[in-house]
Amino acid sequence: MQHKSVFITGTDTGVGKTYVAKLIADSLRQQGYKIAAFKPIVSGGTADLKKLKAENVYSFKHALAPSVAAKLEHRSISIDRILSKYKELLSKNDFVIVEGIGGLLVPIKKGYLVADLIKDMDMPVIIVARPGLGTINHTLLTVKYAQNYGINILGVVFNESKKMKTGICEQTNPKEIERESGVPVLGYVKYASLLRSLRSLAMTDYAAMDKKYVWHPFTQMQDWQKAEPLIIDQAKGCYLKATNGKWYLDGISSLWVNVHGHRKKELDQALIKQINKVSHSTLLGLGNTPSIELAKMLVDVAPKGLNKVFYSDSGSTAVEIALKIAFQYWQQKRVRVQGSGFRNKKTEFISFENAYHGDTIGAVSVGGIDLFHKKYKPLLFKAIKSPVDIEELENILKKQNKTIAAVIIEPIVQGAAGMLMQPPGFLKKVRKLCAKYDCLMIADEVATGFGRTGKMFACEHEDVSPDIMTVAKSITGGYLSLAATLTTDEIYNAFCDDYNAQKTFFHGHTYTGNPLACAVAIENLKLYKKERILEKLQPKIKFLENGLKKFEVLKSVCDIRQKGFMVGIELGPYDWKEKIGVKVCMKAREKGVILRPLGNVIVLMPPLAISKKELRQLLGVTYWAIASALHSL
Ligand SMILES: Cc1ncc(COP(=O)(O)O)c(C=O)c1O
Repeated sequence: MQHKSVFITGTDTGVGKTYVAKLIADSLRQQGYKIAAFKPIVSGGTADLKKLKAENVYSFKHALAPSVAAKLEHRSISIDRILSKYKELLSKNDFVIVEGIGGLLVPIKKGYLVADLIKDMDMPVIIVARPGLGTINHTLLTVKYAQNYGINILGVVFNESKKMKTGICEQTNPKEIERESGVPVLGYVKYASLLRSLRSLAMTDYAAMDKKYVWHPFTQMQDWQKAEPLIIDQAKGCYLKATNGKWYLDGISSLWVNVHGHRKKELDQALIKQINKVSHSTLLGLGNTPSIELAKMLVDVAPKGLNKVFYSDSGSTAVEIALKIAFQYWQQKRVRVQGSGFRNKKTEFISFENAYHGDTIGAVSVGGIDLFHKKYKPLLFKAIKSPVDIEELENILKKQNKTIAAVIIEPIVQGAAGMLMQPPGFLKKVRKLCAKYDCLMIADEVATGFGRTGKMFACEHEDVSPDIMTVAKSITGGYLSLAATLTTDEIYNAFCDDYNAQKTFFHGHTYTGNPLACAVAIENLKLYKKERILEKLQPKIKFLENGLKKFEVLKSVCDIRQKGFMVGIELGPYDWKEKIGVKVCMKAREKGVILRPLGNVIVLMPPLAISKKELRQLLGVTYWAIASALHSL
């Protein structure tokens, strides 16, 4: 059984939290589960502790708010002590029932409420309410506060703490509360329904369900079916928690997206705030406030000249849009060129060997990784593949520029190819060649954008402004699916004309410019400034660079590549069938670090906000994983 827990809070003091906690604990114990009850703080006597057979950390004589009771006794409350006791109980039991003190807004210490403890303990709550007149207001206030604070509510239990007659009020209140709050009423001390919901929570075998229903991306499902998959159900900071109860360092930023760590308070609140306004409204024929505000912010941080923002949902869709815009731009430009008719013959693209721009058909057409792309060849449009060699690129452009619409490039680093670095100055020369041969330059900053290479955008390393730029991944700090394709005014203007001229860009996804995603992205960008993310990143990049030097002594390491927080440790040579990268990453998992390889390349790409201590853990475990995986070969 997975380790699970529930926090029992009340709409007020004296509503019967201890009674409800005991009912749950006793019943689960009877069913054979190992249950711990935990009441971290009591004030005004220890009778409740005895009733509940609960573990405790702080006990105060006077029945007062903990902050006041502690002060009277000249003591201080350590949240860390409470959390470590909780972790200990969690590790030794099937289920932990935690009883709070008073309600959500009771101060435990200055600036720290019961609600903060719930967030830090990271568990769902059951709200105990009293029946009768006045409970609607109390209960809804508690529910709404918890919802706004991002606390997961399992439901409300009405508890008759004293003998009372049940009239219309008691009979109708639960329904009213359920309707107004959207939170289920688990029982009117009919705790059987409550127990049922707890039991199912505790016993769900997610791994088995996953194998039955989910098809995973970039995964050989036959292998997956045989393996013991890790199922994540929580996270905090740079760590992910799996249903096996263990915490893992997120060494790849949840596939290159996470910036400030998981469950960043400001991002959580931005999302909740936006949910309370509007979750989605279309950009087809309407605007919405977050998408407008974000567009301005993106233009402000993007390389100069990129003044227009077209939204979509993923890196791949941003690339599709870039390709279609480039294609249509030349169709509509129709400038007569001496001896060659109209420029609308410019319909082809140049991309680079080993390029990766996503998995939709257009993005695959400009991709250059055979393992991923070769199978689909008959489906793809033709794109000219250039080596990452400026002379070769110029040769192609010299011969074929009249038919080339755009050159698409991952600036500075080809990420999915295994963190391949372009030679210094290459990007700038590509920019110059695109200008010289009158082709658009598309910079795909999906992986490199938002600080991954040490600057906001990789193009900044060589002071390059592309004609079109794609962004996604970290745009929301790793929270939600959002992407954007930025263009110059010149490109945008080529699409503006009378409707009858048929120059409209007929492209749009249903969730384009989704207000929730945009609201989080706005807060994400604000945090870069407020928390000086890029400034603080520089010493960590150096720290990573120094730490990586140690890997050079490992015989199996044949190359180490790094740009900012994008690292590739290449192992080999090994045949791809040996799945060396996968073996190393599985080893790292044994020591609590999540990694995902690209073939024989071990990728390190932690959240930008990672601490030096966590970086040390990442480097140490990766080193150990390579050494021990390759010893056992
Ligand atoms: C450079 C680049 N472009 C596009 C994509 C595709 O992004 P998405 O997976 O969001 O479709 C990726 C994904 O890794 C990428 O690295």
